Amino acid sequence: MSAALRREMLLHGEAVASAPHPQQPLDGVQRPAEEPEDAGLRPKTLQEFVGQTQLVEHLRIVLQAAKQRRQPVDHLLFAGPPGLGKTSLAGIVAAELGVGLRVTSGPVLARPGDLAALLTDLQAGDVLFIDEIHRVPRQVEEILYPAMEDAKLDIMIGKGPTARSIRLDLPRFTLVGATTRTGLVSSPLRDRFGFVGRLDLYDTVELRAIIERSAKILDVQVEPAGAERIAERSRGTPRIANRLLRRVRDFVEVRGDGIITEAAAAEGLAVFGIDDLGLDKVDRAILDALCRRFSGKPVGLTTLAQCVGEEPDTIEDAYEPFLLQQGLLQRTPRGRVPTPRAFMHLGLVPKDPALF
Ligand SMILES: Nc1ncnc2c1ncn2[C@@H]1O[C@H](COP(=O)(O)OP(=O)(O)O)[C@@H](O)[C@H]1O
Ligand SMILES: [Mg+2]
Repeated sequence: MSAALRREMLLHGEAVASAPHPQQPLDGVQRPAEEPEDAGLRPKTLQEFVGQTQLVEHLRIVLQAAKQRRQPVDHLLFAGPPGLGKTSLAGIVAAELGVGLRVTSGPVLARPGDLAALLTDLQAGDVLFIDEIHRVPRQVEEILYPAMEDAKLDIMIGKGPTARSIRLDLPRFTLVGATTRTGLVSSPLRDRFGFVGRLDLYDTVELRAIIERSAKILDVQVEPAGAERIAERSRGTPRIANRLLRRVRDFVEVRGDGIITEAAAAEGLAVFGIDDLGLDKVDRAILDALCRRFSGKPVGLTTLAQCVGEEPDTIEDAYEPFLLQQGLLQRTPRGRVPTPRAFMHLGLVPKDPALF
């Protein structure tokens, strides 16, 4: 965008924000801040990306086809619980295509001008990554539609009777969106993505591979059985696997000989309060509320969230997928209910015999 236009937009109250600060946390779902080493553990190529085999295969084809046609890749949407690799994939797409990557997130794009500033600053072919795209405000989303479809930007200049709308050409770009749930993305926006990739929880074999890769990067020795132990307790989530690996590394460096054996892993995980299913404090608080406080009766999401002191979205996006997958919790039309397995995991006997 020309300096004159920029100035005019500013003068007329249409904010032209600078690009968001790159260190801005990108996940809306609450979690411990990324540790400095996280960046080094991120896979940089599709080759390094472990698991999600079908998604990776589809992505390979989409990227290769676009490269052969020398066209920008269709817009891509990645959906799945936090910590499964959505941000990593956005970086990989840009790297595989050899194009620039611009990163922002839904909550940062408060006004149309914020997005306009980013869009007009793109180079042809660039990837624009919008994390938490379901949190882009409606009026900003409307700017995205023509940008995605026709590489056009409609902006209003001035106010009142002198207001006029102008249409700018944008460079062709690829929008990569990430969301914790596709259901939260409005359907007009969802329809404009050429490809929607869903990420599933990882299995133990995949998590083990991720842990072994990370251990190499962190230069810590981990025995296969030690990696297995950590993998089993990572709630199907690479980010958690990496976090547990670092905690166990701390443990063996302080209390052991620096090698992560099976016994050392088990002991280290126990010290940090990770139980044998990998449940953390919040998981256990959820089960505790369902089993003890409500004695297995259905509980609404909001009530449950209040009981454990988390946001309903966080419960739904970050905790429930794993509890559901483990058969510890069920969603019913009347609310969340614990399964007999949940009672047993807490060492309780279900009060309601109908549960058996
Ligand atoms: N498939 C994978 N292979 C290897 N490491 C992964 C993979 N997916 C995620 N990770 C690791 O987990 C961390 C979190 O991934 P990230 O892409 O930030 O997840 P999301 O954006 O979905 O919350 C990354 O820093 C990376 O180290
Ligand atoms: Mg992310």
